[in-house]
Amino acid sequence: MATAPPATATTTDERSSAPDAPADAAVGAHLGAASAAVRAGLPPGPRAPSFAQTLAWALAPTWVMRRCARRIGETFTITFWPSGMKLVLVSAPEDVKTVFTAPAEIAPSAAGNSPVRGVMGESSVIVLTGPEHMRQRKLLLPPFHGERMREYEQTIVQATRADMASWPRGEPMRLQERTRAITLEVILRAVFGVEAERMDPLRRAISGLLEPVHPLRLALLALSRPSLERPTGAFGEALDELDAVIYDELARRREQPDLAERTDILSLLMQARDEQGEAMTDVELRDELVTLLLAGHETTATSVAWAIERLVRHPDKLARLLDEIDAAAGTNGNGDGEAGAEGGRYMTAVINETLRVRPVVPITVRILQDELQVGDYTLPAGTRVTPAIYLTNRNPRIYEAPAEFRPERFLESGPETFSWIPFGGGIRRCIGAAFAQLEMKLILRTVLGELHPSLPRARRWRRGEWNRRRAITLVPAAGARVVWTTRE
Ligand code: HEM
Repeated sequence: MATAPPATATTTDERSSAPDAPADAAVGAHLGAASAAVRAGLPPGPRAPSFAQTLAWALAPTWVMRRCARRIGETFTITFWPSGMKLVLVSAPEDVKTVFTAPAEIAPSAAGNSPVRGVMGESSVIVLTGPEHMRQRKLLLPPFHGERMREYEQTIVQATRADMASWPRGEPMRLQERTRAITLEVILRAVFGVEAERMDPLRRAISGLLEPVHPLRLALLALSRPSLERPTGAFGEALDELDAVIYDELARRREQPDLAERTDILSLLMQARDEQGEAMTDVELRDELVTLLLAGHETTATSVAWAIERLVRHPDKLARLLDEIDAAAGTNGNGDGEAGAEGGRYMTAVINETLRVRPVVPITVRILQDELQVGDYTLPAGTRVTPAIYLTNRNPRIYEAPAEFRPERFLESGPETFSWIPFGGGIRRCIGAAFAQLEMKLILRTVLGELHPSLPRARRWRRGEWNRRRAITLVPAAGARVVWTTRE
């Protein structure tokens, strides 16, 4: 960790050790304090020793966040062992706005100080800060703009149909693994075009990178100092393999005469020029490709899995969505033509609500380079301030019954910029947000147009699958288990 919290950064103890008060009351108390003078230093944190905070955070981050929000309020500090590193979590939309709209030089992203750097590389848009970040971001944005994305629609529907053909009917399966295969196929094709067909080594290498990590290892990782270096061992080998395939492909492409006519993301990036007329180097291209491949598929796959996980436990919402899908298929004949890419209103509401109540990326971190007033606190330079996506999306001041899955809440009006933040915000908002939402809609529509999901008989997980940590995402603990039957 490059920037240690300064010695002056202290936290006070948890405000109350009384039994959990209702969430609204806790938040109300916190808001009541808003009129008090702005305080220097860090907000309060849990009383538990930092060792316990670290373990709990590694194993059950959403539990820790909910508990702290209930007991302390919308803003609190978690302390990590053994470094003493502190994270200040904020979840009031006003505070989230302050952090996301703070000048880039005051609140740059912390991703460059995390293990992400060793994997995605120093030139990755996620890792860079300042003008270099903006340069890469501008080069990357065009392929993700509206019109371009229509080109990916058929790819998404085809990849979904091809995978569904092998799904069992009438017996439980883990949906998460299948949606992951679909979104990996989609991102490979979007990024590499038809060449993706002969890219089995790439598929293998990426799957190797995403092997699940045992909870015990996760706990040990959390207690050790995160390495910023390129990983070694099996993970490092998978990364080497991935790099070799990518560099091979770059060399091959440079020799092809039709680069200018191609529309896949790699070809567009190879032709892109920055404001000085410079093209991206091979290392930059490698880093952005790995970034897109990794950031762009597991997140979307997990969100689709969560959508089905929620829908099977809310049969009335599922029925309403199926009605809408069937009505659209009736008007356009086969359900995969023009009528549907944007999805109906209820589909959009289901997706917004899934991303709200089960955000797959739970936090995003900025490291302050100068002091910044965030709500009631003047946070000193060096503070890691963290819009807590998970908590902001469930802020009881904004959402009635925030833990419940109610797509209807988004039917009348769409989500607000700073109280619905599954894709982060400001100048680092997710580049693939529109792509991801389009992909979610098309996968859900294609699957639910043909198959009816229901809950497996087993008692376990009946009420819902809890959040399990997988690398930096939160996935359904049982892989979104579901039973499919063919629809009449
Ligand atoms: C449901 C799916 C997805 C979710 C929930 C998600 C979430 C996020 C979040 C929370 C951030 C960090 C924003 C911040 O630091 O404020 C982010 C950044 C990013 N995402 Fe996504 N993402 C998804 C899909 C995608 C896809 C499909 C792609 C590309 C194909 C993508 C590419 C990126 C990139 C390149 C960044 C870095 C942006 C920057 O630092 O400027 N993501 N995403």
